[in-house]
Amino acid sequence: MSRPPVALGTFPTPVEPAPRLAAALGLGPDDLWVKRDDLTGLGGGGNKVRKLEWTVGAALADGADTLVTTGAAQSNHARLTAAAGARLGLDVVLVLGGPGGPGGSGGAGGSGGSPGGSRSGNLALDGLFGARLAWAGDVDRAGLDAAAAEVCEQLRAAGARPALVPFGGSSTLGARGYVCCGEELRRQVPGLRTAVVALGSGGTMAGLVASLGAEAVLGVDVGAVADPASVVTGFAAPLTAEPVAPERLRIRTDQVGGGYPVLTPAAADALRLAARTEGLVVDPVYTGRALAGLAAAVRDGDVRPGERTVFVHTGGLPGLFGHAAAVAYAESGALPYPADD
Ligand SMILES: Cc1ncc(COP(=O)(O)O)c(C=O)c1O
Repeated sequence: MSRPPVALGTFPTPVEPAPRLAAALGLGPDDLWVKRDDLTGLGGGGNKVRKLEWTVGAALADGADTLVTTGAAQSNHARLTAAAGARLGLDVVLVLGGPGGPGGSGGAGGSGGSPGGSRSGNLALDGLFGARLAWAGDVDRAGLDAAAAEVCEQLRAAGARPALVPFGGSSTLGARGYVCCGEELRRQVPGLRTAVVALGSGGTMAGLVASLGAEAVLGVDVGAVADPASVVTGFAAPLTAEPVAPERLRIRTDQVGGGYPVLTPAAADALRLAARTEGLVVDPVYTGRALAGLAAAVRDGDVRPGERTVFVHTGGLPGLFGHAAAVAYAESGALPYPADD
């Protein structure tokens, strides 16, 4: 695999043992490892940095001077596109929408296709990085795409050279960032049986599947796209010698719950468990669901003790602070001192 056209992150990311979390899940102490892709370096870190090295690299090669992308108000991808633009001296326009749909934020702070609700979390960082925000209203994915196309048109009319970075950074090109991650994992975790990862817009799982094989990747769907299996195989197909059939993918859909922005009880448990066993913070939308999916996979025997398992931590910490329910839940865990009798 060739190197990405532009360097934005710090790689390889570390792999750390998680023996106390492993024991709490019912695994052996050497069974579980965490791939720290929350520590990719740029702009608060997370999985989107690897994809942006490819998609923004292509935009630069095309002579772009402005990055345009779409997402929810609390989009980690939007935040990291803003950071990438700042790093490279490019203007950035974020077209944000929701709530509840694929780009939705809804309960994630209550902000929809307007700046109402929480201005904290990713949204605060977008401002710090100097991105311009275009609020698309309460639209679905198609509406968000249409709003972004219109923004690009306006920018071109004003003499700018915009490049549209795909929703969630996911495309075959963006997925190449996760082919690189898979190669790191091969070197770092010999004998790896299962890499567990959150599945949102699909590019992260697609790259891992292309690199590690369909049987070695367990995707935990967060409910961001209608047909996650075909989205993942679609992105992965040009990266593999043989196309991967959607039915060969290991995808759990049992963690979607009330929808993408809702803090599910299982994700809430996962937030607390990771924090209290390893001092590790997972986020309410993606990595909390992924860890809840791993717990469910151990319970139903899809992941077993004695096998080498990696939890791919894809970041998302800023989103926790933009998610009102998650903040209230986290705060509620603090106990008074001295203890009440
Ligand atoms: C923190 C975090 N983890 C995982 C994902 C899922 O990655 P993908 O969209 O490539 O499926 C996202 C996507 O937004 C994310 O922000």
